[in-house]
Amino acid sequence: MEKRVGVLVGTKGRGSNLAGLAEAGIPISIVVGADSSAPVHGVALRYGLNWQEIGYEDGYGERLERAFEGCDLICLAGYLRLLPTTVTDRHTVLNIHPSLLPAYGGKGMYGLHVHRAVLEAGEKESGCTVHRVSEVYDEGEIVLQARCPVLPEDTPETLSARVLELEKLTYAAAVRKVLGA
Ligand code: GRF
Repeated sequence: MEKRVGVLVGTKGRGSNLAGLAEAGIPISIVVGADSSAPVHGVALRYGLNWQEIGYEDGYGERLERAFEGCDLICLAGYLRLLPTTVTDRHTVLNIHPSLLPAYGGKGMYGLHVHRAVLEAGEKESGCTVHRVSEVYDEGEIVLQARCPVLPEDTPETLSARVLELEKLTYAAAVRKVLGA
């Protein structure tokens, strides 16, 4: 039987991780987001995916549980909050982070903050990491990493674009590895 993957997206998600997974043919049975006016909702529609809006008010954990019922795996895609432990205890959850963890991870390390820190430290290499999600930011077991060069002329924006491109194949490959597909 085909595996079922649920995707949980960020409030202001742009949908790049979601589009990467959909384009790679990952079987996405539901996409959950907190705001249907975010660009990621349009991406979900474009790929013909089921979309469910779930707000963060009381009972959030239970509503997530119901939405992801029957999913073999949950993928975070541009989602920046810690997940309720009821969800991480009962499901395998993956996230992709735009650095070579454990470097440049943790609370507040997201988006351009990560790439700015990498450039300020003079790193010659960066990349992305797919990891299992635990109750601590960016600390679960690493599933897959991919590397790319940092160029002398890089800005946080150009480095971000290079890493994001790398994320597409890396996230899909990590999902297949975890699903055993
Ligand atoms: C990327 O930085 C990725 O590493 C992280 O979220 C960003 C993509 O967000 N997981 P989105 O999918 O475009 O909303």
